[in-house]
Amino acid sequence: MEKSNEAAGRKSPEKEKFSEILEELVADCNDVLLKYLPDPSDMPEGEAPASTVADAMRYSVTAGGKRLRPLLIARISDLYGGRRALAEPFMAALEMIHTYSLVHDDLPAMDDDDYRRGRKTTHRVYGEGMAVLAGDALLNYAFETALTAFDAVRSPKEGAAVVRAMKILARNAGIFGMVGGQCADLEAENRTDVCSAGDGAALLAYIHSHKTACMISSGFMIGAVLAGAPEKDIDLLEKIAFEIGIAFQIQDDILDVTGDSDELGKAVGSDERDGKATYITIHGLEAARRDVRALTDSALQKWDGLSVQDGFLRNLLEELVVRRN
Ligand code: FPP
Ligand code: MG
Repeated sequence: MEKSNEAAGRKSPEKEKFSEILEELVADCNDVLLKYLPDPSDMPEGEAPASTVADAMRYSVTAGGKRLRPLLIARISDLYGGRRALAEPFMAALEMIHTYSLVHDDLPAMDDDDYRRGRKTTHRVYGEGMAVLAGDALLNYAFETALTAFDAVRSPKEGAAVVRAMKILARNAGIFGMVGGQCADLEAENRTDVCSAGDGAALLAYIHSHKTACMISSGFMIGAVLAGAPEKDIDLLEKIAFEIGIAFQIQDDILDVTGDSDELGKAVGSDERDGKATYITIHGLEAARRDVRALTDSALQKWDGLSVQDGFLRNLLEELVVRRN
């Protein structure tokens, strides 16, 4: 009898196709990032004294990572017939903002971590001052980069879409988005009242929805907005993004307890070390696993209500639940 693909250690044709598309999209994201990042060995005339910060920016961004946020922009823009010329500056910008947040999050003043994405953290290689600057530079350069989308605009409708995408990018990264979530996260450290159920659960929901789901939401919404997707779909995508974003952060909390540091590319157990309130400390591991599944199922149900369908992205949402890094 012929062995099944799985028993034979081979991927099924569907899984192979999924991996192929994923690899292609990640390669696209990496190309786009390299195209937009300043090149430390080829700085503009007279800017050579800023080479070290350009080098630290590049080190931080090219350390790898899943490229989840820019690949969502690319694939969703494609799905609605959008133009990559408009999407690319936003793909680069969103990953630059995400990377800056990781560089600053790893600083001694925050989580004080030595490893990220399998490499020494930026401040361990370039020093704290330069890591602060690399983060600052990535954040500013992200907006400088996103604004170049206006150069590709061909109609007033596209111009309006770029303005709307800029607003989404800015708001989700700022005080009413990721920075607000990080503020609450920082203040919740070592507060035992927050580490247990009750008020802690509401605060944790704020932290997760702001520090993680908002940036995932930019990934889901920007490509759709740029491509002129129907408003009903944009609304649905926002809802899907929040459920997926929260499930993603709960999974992050789970992996900090059960994960493998080699697979994760960073230390495990850091939440406990930092006295952090997590989904596990508040709700327990079993509830965390159950809720990741429930949030994902709810998002998938909404996904099926979109006016366009994409098996690859549907599978990706599923994969995020079982991810090991
Ligand atoms: C991992 O993303 C990142 C998160 C789960 C979000 C964590 C949020 C912060 C650290 C906010 C920090 C904010 C400030 C302002 C300092 P990922 O698994 O996609 O990582 P990857 O890109 O390395 O794959
Ligand atoms: Mg951290």
